[in-house]
Amino acid sequence: LPDDWREACLSNDLPEAGTLAVTLDGQVFCLYRVEGATYATADRCSHGRGSLSEGVLEAHTIECPFHQGCFDIRTGAPTALPCNRPVKTYATRETDGIVWVNTRPRDMAGQH
Ligand code: FES
Repeated sequence: LPDDWREACLSNDLPEAGTLAVTLDGQVFCLYRVEGATYATADRCSHGRGSLSEGVLEAHTIECPFHQGCFDIRTGAPTALPCNRPVKTYATRETDGIVWVNTRPRDMAGQH
């Protein structure tokens, strides 16, 4: 299998309850930190042109800045209209002060 893990940012760049857009392999991802854990989704909202990294993160819910639709960042599932299609999610890991993202999307069960 190809190695899809990419260095995404320094741990310090992703504070608690923060979001961060990063471009890896020409795609824009949104990173999140909640209760210390890191998560990643596509940055682009599935409803339109909203950038989720510019939205409001509350617990595991990101609210899109464009029309206030929401997603669960753990699964990518839409949780508030007008969003009704999921966003892709990606595995993350954090070692030695670096956050890594696996650029291959997870399936909806969260498996790789
Ligand atoms: Fe995100 Fe419409 S673009 S809710």
